[in-house]
Order: sequence, then structure tokens, then C-alpha cells
Amino acid sequence: MSPCPSVSLLLIFFLTSLHAASADGGSTNIIYETCKKCAQEDPNVSYKFCVASLESNPYCHCDNLRGLGLVSIKLLRHNVTRTRSYTEKLLKSKKMDPSVRACLQDCLELYSDVVPTLAEAIRAYKDERYGDANIDLSSVMDASTTCEDGFTEKGTGSPLARRNKDAFRLSALALSIITMLSRSSH
Ligand SMILES: *[C@@H]1O[C@H](CO)[C@@H](O)[C@H](O)[C@H]1NC(C)=O
Ligand SMILES: *[C@@H]1O[C@H](CO)[C@@H](O)[C@H](O)[C@H]1NC(C)=O
Repeated sequence: MSPCPSVSLLLIFFLTSLHAASADGGSTNIIYETCKKCAQEDPNVSYKFCVASLESNPYCHCDNLRGLGLVSIKLLRHNVTRTRSYTEKLLKSKKMDPSVRACLQDCLELYSDVVPTLAEAIRAYKDERYGDANIDLSSVMDASTTCEDGFTEKGTGSPLARRNKDAFRLSALALSIITMLSRSSH
């Protein structure tokens, strides 16, 4: 038991109100507004996916568009890093159709290149070099489609289908926010 219950009570109250403020306050509204605009302007962004993704980050400094943009890029980096390790793990399993293995090898290479590209995208974004960030994120988006196309061309099912789709949609979201930001900074 805590020796000083009033302090812990205060702390609980503080944390609860912090949480309430972030859940009901401005950040939720700006997420809805941003996702609505992105979905209207970009056919590759779905409103539901956008809201679910941006709301999933508890550390979001999401009270402005710039914060949301950074969150979307960081979500993408997290996604892509995990996809890369997942692909590596799949390649270690012994039994596998050789054409699936070849595709996975290509995807591993693609996603390995994408990890440093995303670090560069984050630097560019923080410096407000939106043109550079756009180029970086477009190449991440391309990597996800190139990976998926490999399986389609070989006529095999893709074990990375969902992950490729997530990477594609998160890239589209980040790109869409960057388009809005670069418009408003001119
Ligand atoms: C949407 O995705 C397609 C297919 O990858 C791409 O060619 C197109 O440029 C994207 N649209 C926008 C607005 O980014
Ligand atoms: C990738 O991001 C999407 C959307 O935020 C999420 O639903 C999914 O679980 C993430 N996948 C990985 C492997 O992190």
C-alpha cells in the first residue's frame, strides 16, 4: 500500500484528466478533420484507416497537422521495420515454394532499403523540406507495390499482402498530409 494515499489519488486524478483531455479535446477533432480532407483529396486514403491509425498512437502530439504528419511517418517506419523482420523470419523457415522464396528475397531487399529512406524522410520533414520528404515517401510507397506485384506476377499468394497494403496506405496518408502542409506554407 502506498504510504501516502492522497498523493497517489492526486496522481490518478491527474493522469485521468490528462487522458480525458487528449481523448475528447482538440486532438480528436483535428484527426477527424484531417482524415476527412485526406480521404476527399486522395483516393488512396481511406477515412476509417486514417482515423484508426492516427488514434492508435498514445504519444501523439496530434493537436496540429504537423504533429499528425510526423505520427503518420513514424507509424509507417514502425510498420515497415516490423515487416522487414517478419520477412526475414519467413525466409528462415525451410519449406517454401521456390518462387515465393525468390519474391520474399526481393521484398526483404526492398524493405531493407526503405528503413534508411524513412529516417531521411523524418529528417526532411522536421526541416520542412517537404519536397524531399515527398520523394522519400513515394519511394516507400513504390516498394510496397513492387513487393506485392512480385507475388502477383509469379501467380502465387502473397504472405505479405496485408502488410504491403498497410505500408501503402500509411505512405499515402503521410503523403497526403505533406501535400496539405506544403500548400499552406506557400
Ligand atoms: C494512388 O495510388 C496509385 C497506385 O499506386 C498511384 O498511381 C496514384 O498516384 C496514387 N494517387 C495519389 C493521389 O497519390
Ligand atoms: C501497420 O499499421 C496499421 C495501421 O496503423 C496497423 O493496423 C498494423 O497493425 C501495423 N502493422 C504492423 C506489422 O505493425
